[in-house]
Amino acid sequence: MPFYQKRGTIPTKRHTVFRQASGALYQEELFGTEGFSGMSSLLYHVHPPTQVAEMGKPYSVQPKIAVEKNLKALSFQGFEIRPEEDYLKSRKTLFVNHDLNIGLAAPKQFSNGYFFKNADADELLFIHEGRGTFKSPFGEIKFAYGDYIIIPRGTIYQLEFSEDNNRLLFVESFSPIFTPKKYRNGFGQLLEHSPYCERDFKLPENLQTIDTPGEYEILIKKQGHIHPFTYKNHPFDLVGWDGYNYPYALSILDFEPITGRIHQPPPVHQQFEGHNFVVCSFVPRLYDYHPDSVPAPYHHSNIDSDELLYYVDGDFMSRKSVSKGQITLHPGGIPHGPHPGTIEKSIGKERTEELAVMIDPFRPMMITEEAMGIEVPDYYKSWL
Ligand SMILES: [Fe+2]
Repeated sequence: MPFYQKRGTIPTKRHTVFRQASGALYQEELFGTEGFSGMSSLLYHVHPPTQVAEMGKPYSVQPKIAVEKNLKALSFQGFEIRPEEDYLKSRKTLFVNHDLNIGLAAPKQFSNGYFFKNADADELLFIHEGRGTFKSPFGEIKFAYGDYIIIPRGTIYQLEFSEDNNRLLFVESFSPIFTPKKYRNGFGQLLEHSPYCERDFKLPENLQTIDTPGEYEILIKKQGHIHPFTYKNHPFDLVGWDGYNYPYALSILDFEPITGRIHQPPPVHQQFEGHNFVVCSFVPRLYDYHPDSVPAPYHHSNIDSDELLYYVDGDFMSRKSVSKGQITLHPGGIPHGPHPGTIEKSIGKERTEELAVMIDPFRPMMITEEAMGIEVPDYYKSWL
């Protein structure tokens, strides 16, 4: 996040002597991305973060690709993904390219005692159903319906769900996920025209230092494999931290829509960006107010990107017969647009209650076997 935060106790000057009551030194760790030139935080551990006791056998979680080269409009019933007891097992990757993986999960709970760390990718978790607490060395974030949780690569975390009915959309991005540059000034502050501001962010709070030696399993994802590590110390043994690199949450419900007299293009809905993709939020809003405006979108030739739309709630004005949790994939290369009758129907309408997340990957997505298992047949003919 491009704004500075500080939690717990840290020394006055970085990289200087900082002792515990016992006289032992606290262990300083620079936690950053993009080498030493991206955003980073300085973490102060009770114990060195390097004390590996055991390493288990790595295993692949690489999804199987069903369609490598796709030019067909596709639709998927996301809520047909079956709930599973375990968080990691529940994560089903549906779409893959060299920049990101996109999937759905319906975990009943997090785990029986492990921690997870994605060393490949920053993660975006969109909470469609469920609530609970995101726990990391930086502190806790309470999450609920509509929250996007952004987790920088390398963050060790657990999710404590309050109930077992949970539905998540997830993105693994092989580049850092940022708030769009167009919303920020040269100092990183969110500008007046940004659809959200610093006050909307849910930041890690309630930092607790857990200093209990034992055996702590951290499942580390690297190169599409899970590497089980056992560490001697609890990963949440920080006494303090400061910096710019930390997990946070931002609710889609705090996204203030930008509207106009005539139809506004999709970039006004942008919420996040990474290398070669953007994430947009379509939220309840007033429609265009020119007397002759057409609120439904025009057909468009998204020649430069695929377009994935995840339907969260409400009535999606440009689509017929969509249900909660459905995903459509409109591949770059052929035009797409509203379903028959929906343009005419939209004229004169004053507002929409639609809630949806759109992900536009600039490079084509490959489709996994898991996705084809929940495909809605013949969606590509639905404009006839
Ligand atoms: Fe579109």
